Amino acid sequence: MRMILIGPPGAGKGTQAARLVERFHIPHISSGDMLRAAVAEGTALGRTADGFMKAGQLVPDDVVIGMVIERIAKPDAAAGFMLDGFPRTRPQAEALDAALARAGVDLDAVLLIEVPDDLILERITGRRSDPQTGAIYHVTFNPPPPDVAGRVVQRSDDTEEAFGARLAKYHAETAPIVPFYEAKGLLRRVDGIGKPDEVTDRIHRALA
Ligand code: AP5
Repeated sequence: MRMILIGPPGAGKGTQAARLVERFHIPHISSGDMLRAAVAEGTALGRTADGFMKAGQLVPDDVVIGMVIERIAKPDAAAGFMLDGFPRTRPQAEALDAALARAGVDLDAVLLIEVPDDLILERITGRRSDPQTGAIYHVTFNPPPPDVAGRVVQRSDDTEEAFGARLAKYHAETAPIVPFYEAKGLLRRVDGIGKPDEVTDRIHRALA
């Protein structure tokens, strides 16, 4: 299964991806997680990405495309993958298409998780993650268990200011790739409102 998850910041892509990769036994390839790891390690790529990410801007295509195309060529992604956060511009979508064509493989589905703008700020500002496991929590909607609560962290771009820029980028750069996948017959729209379990059920129905 080769899948892409698209949706606005805070739509629940990471939350749902963690569940889907268990079901399909495929690697979860999150461009955001890869970039955050590069920032934490202080690599050249991370130093380039850091300022863009903190400001809620997209990291330049030439940086991100090479990083993800290299990752999906690894052996563990040969039988399938879940791409989360990539592609998010038209050049990224075209570069992915070209790489898959060179490898002689096709995408199976592109899931678009739809959540209205006015619901996602609360999801973003309340998000916390466990640096040890990567698990995603929310202070209200999915609080961390007591043994984890003391070590959860907040992402540096989960501020109201950066969120405004991220949402604007989503509408300007990422939403326009939806018709690209719709025209290929790959797009599955999923309502992202409601409890995470309800959204998971909708995704499973959309993929059936
Ligand atoms: P990235 O890490 O991809 O962030 P994003 O797309 O903004 O998405 P998020 O991770 O914020 O949200 P999500 O949809 O995964 O939601 P989650 O499941 O965590 O990118 C970060 C930055 O990296 C970008 O701004 C850019 O700078 C750079 N970047 C990354 N990829 C790039 C690319 N391809 N090109 C260029 N730059 C790139 O859920 C959010 C919260 O809501 C959590 O607290 C969760 O518990 C809660 N929640 C989840 N589902 C529900 C629900 N159903 N009900 C209530 N709460 C819920």
